[in-house]
Amino acid sequence: MSDKRPLVIAIDGPAGSGKSTVAKILARRLVLRYLDTGAMYRAVALAARRAGLGPDDGERAAALIAGVPIAFGEGDPQRVLLAGEDVTEAIRTPEIGDLASALSVHSAVRRMLVERQKQMVAAGGVTLEGRDVTTVVAPDADLRIFLTASLKVRADRRWRELKQRGIETTLDVVQHQIAERDHRDSTRADSPLYVAEGVTVVDTDGIGPEEVADRIVALL
Ligand code: DC
Repeated sequence: MSDKRPLVIAIDGPAGSGKSTVAKILARRLVLRYLDTGAMYRAVALAARRAGLGPDDGERAAALIAGVPIAFGEGDPQRVLLAGEDVTEAIRTPEIGDLASALSVHSAVRRMLVERQKQMVAAGGVTLEGRDVTTVVAPDADLRIFLTASLKVRADRRWRELKQRGIETTLDVVQHQIAERDHRDSTRADSPLYVAEGVTVVDTDGIGPEEVADRIVALL
């Protein structure tokens, strides 16, 4: 951590723990950029799906996306641009989330995205979130937070979010998908989801995102 670099806050944690919501609130309150690293894995998954690749095609997915820009634009939700195409909505389906999780176990994919993410964080002034940001992407962040919540609460949050976006599914299916994703994200060999030393755990069961953000700001 350099004395002069503007603030970097890294928010880690499993699916549905509230990472995105809390990171966005922090970015707004503290006037920081918001970097959604999961959106980049999702963009890779979308490109892979369109190219007919599957969950085992990590090397090919990495090659496919090499040199293809994944960028973020303004807006709420923040726009995600894959080679200039707005894929903000297309990457938010459960299927793309599953493929993103499956492809994210492949080191070729991780290496490429982590390098891009490190570059995006280098100048500071950013809140980033994702399942490796406290351990790999920004281990020297000024503040490293791991959000948790019970499986039931996380599934319920994700289900409501999907319902709001008009995606029909059941709470049971969502809970099953999240449990599967937890398992995959936590047991992958390369950069598994875990609480590293020095990272502050914040349990978000029963507390709203603004209050979670209050607690994090209080830690600064
Ligand atoms: O946060 P999300 O649901 O948008 O992320 C989709 C998948 O991408 C997630 O299941 C695992 C992967 N991912 C990752 O491996 N590392 C990150 N920093 C962010 C996401």
